[in-house]
Amino acid sequence: MTSPGTALAAGAPALVLVLVALGSAAVRADLSAKDFGAGLGRPLPSFLKICKRHDPNLNECIKEAVEQLRPHLTEGILELGIPSCEPLLIPEVVVNQGSGAVTVTSVYRNLRVYGPSQFVLKNIKVDLEKNRVRVRLFLPKLSMDSDYFLQGRILMLPIQGHGHSSGNYTNIEATATMTGQRVIRGGREYMDVKEFLVDFQIGHASVHLGNLFDGDQELGEIMNKFLNENWRSVAREVQPILEDTIAELFKTFANKIYHMYPLDVLLPE
Ligand SMILES: *[C@@H]1O[C@H](CO)[C@@H](O)[C@H](O)[C@H]1NC(C)=O
Repeated sequence: MTSPGTALAAGAPALVLVLVALGSAAVRADLSAKDFGAGLGRPLPSFLKICKRHDPNLNECIKEAVEQLRPHLTEGILELGIPSCEPLLIPEVVVNQGSGAVTVTSVYRNLRVYGPSQFVLKNIKVDLEKNRVRVRLFLPKLSMDSDYFLQGRILMLPIQGHGHSSGNYTNIEATATMTGQRVIRGGREYMDVKEFLVDFQIGHASVHLGNLFDGDQELGEIMNKFLNENWRSVAREVQPILEDTIAELFKTFANKIYHMYPLDVLLPE
């Protein structure tokens, strides 16, 4: 018997993980499927490889399941509410940072992220006793563009602008750790993700903000050059806020799926 649930269970964090490299935060998404058992009565998509709970090679099985899922993640899986991730479209991201060397109010709209489906799964570790999943991913390259609005100070320099922004991020290493608890709803056991921790490292970043300082070409160029020369310091400042916000998104996303199907469907005995 093959049941797709486990692949999905593992695929969800993996999928959401690809967002890690966005370098953006506070993603607002429509993730309203809070109802436990919403997927009951509907068959799981047949392309999902299922792993047995007591499979001695559970980690390997889940890794394979995620690999099988990759092409479907790329296109999106309508019946599971998983959007296409190539490109990944994010309506809005808000990064407001109030203290430190980077203090900015910024909004990014209509984000398009190219490259998330190229993720390389380095490692998946499932600890059923502790209800914990840990995933390590490598992303060779993410390219992103969006409309932006930004105002504040970056490494002491005042900055403001609105227009089109783009960026390339390469060699991204990411780790996500998800911890849940089991809950009973309608007599069936579900996983409920309590905590999602994300941690990532960007190898290199190259960014461009168009129309800075109301279109002042010279100032705009100087600022873009400055940002690119100092991208690591800028990234360090905003990293914690990014990690937290992305983690929150992952958590919501994972719960959407975990709440849809009971654990004995996602991870059969
Ligand atoms: C990102 O990479 C593409 C393709 O290599 C290039 O055309 C573009 O200018 C780059 N953008 C930035 C902001 O570096």
